Amino acid sequence: MEITLDSPLDMHLHLRDGDMLKLTAPLSADFAGAVIMPNLVPPITTPDKMAAYSGRIREAMGDSPFTRYMTLFFTPQTEATLKCIRNTPEFFGFKLYPAGITTNSEGGIAHMDDADSTLRMMEEMDIPLLVHGESHGFVMDRETEFLAVYRDLATRYPKLRISMEHITTAAALELLDEFENLCATVTLQHLIITLDDVAGGALNPHLFCKPIAKRPGDRDALLQAALNGHPRLMFGSDSAPHPLHRKECCGCAAGVFTAPLALPRLAALFAEHHALGKLQDFVSGNACRIFGLAPVSKQVTLTDTPMHVPASYRSFGQQVVPMYAGQDIAWSIKKA
Ligand code: NCD
Ligand code: ZN
Repeated sequence: MEITLDSPLDMHLHLRDGDMLKLTAPLSADFAGAVIMPNLVPPITTPDKMAAYSGRIREAMGDSPFTRYMTLFFTPQTEATLKCIRNTPEFFGFKLYPAGITTNSEGGIAHMDDADSTLRMMEEMDIPLLVHGESHGFVMDRETEFLAVYRDLATRYPKLRISMEHITTAAALELLDEFENLCATVTLQHLIITLDDVAGGALNPHLFCKPIAKRPGDRDALLQAALNGHPRLMFGSDSAPHPLHRKECCGCAAGVFTAPLALPRLAALFAEHHALGKLQDFVSGNACRIFGLAPVSKQVTLTDTPMHVPASYRSFGQQVVPMYAGQDIAWSIKKA
């Protein structure tokens, strides 16, 4: 069996910087493009920093054409700056993090009211808002608690396009269906694993991410929505590489590294459920329609020949362990 995808997109990707960027960028090169997260140290907060980072990504990608949809770390902005940013090539939108909620988000928003005037202007200028939607409550309840904030945003700014990033719960899907101006990304791991895979047996640091994987009912609801072709659900890997020594240690960093195997594993998952026909929209069509995107043209053929996932990826002095390290997955990318 085979499927050829047109210009697949990763709508939520961490590439990092420096030597880690040199390792990770080529491993996303089967995608036609990606929405690039801004949570570097320090975060990408200005158009100049964004343009420079975009250039470093282009360099790290080498010869592979790849459309970079760059994001800025949300901080309150003036009208003049927003007007300038809006006209910056490659700018996609703002990523809002509640302060301190995940990796490198200390400079995020402490009180949502501080965001109000900027959000109003973004709504007028049609600049998308991407949100890491977690409260500071009990870890399993953080996303559900944050749904009230999403509801408030969707109601107060009815024309603002709001992306609920990496949703992990059935409750988030229900909210998605209530508001036309909400869309959502979902990761590979949250379609497959539950908290049991992270911490039910021997602790698996390589499956530890924010938001944490939830209950079987949540995972099943997300998977059904993806397989049924939910029109406002998009693939965003949230592939979040950390060096091996930051994962296999006490105080393990949050993030699952999936970029190099995401497309094969998605194809295997959709094929297993006889839903391959829905994959194109999930990995590209929905995002292109919702945001009016036109990424570089790139075709990727996936086939039901197994892929062996390496125990780790190493180069430029960096070492990162992927999901399914050392295992075979049922599908692979067919190289010409
Ligand atoms: C991400 C990272 O490492 O940058 N970690 C994660 O667990 N997903 C940050 C994020 O998207 O929350
Ligand atoms: Zn992320």
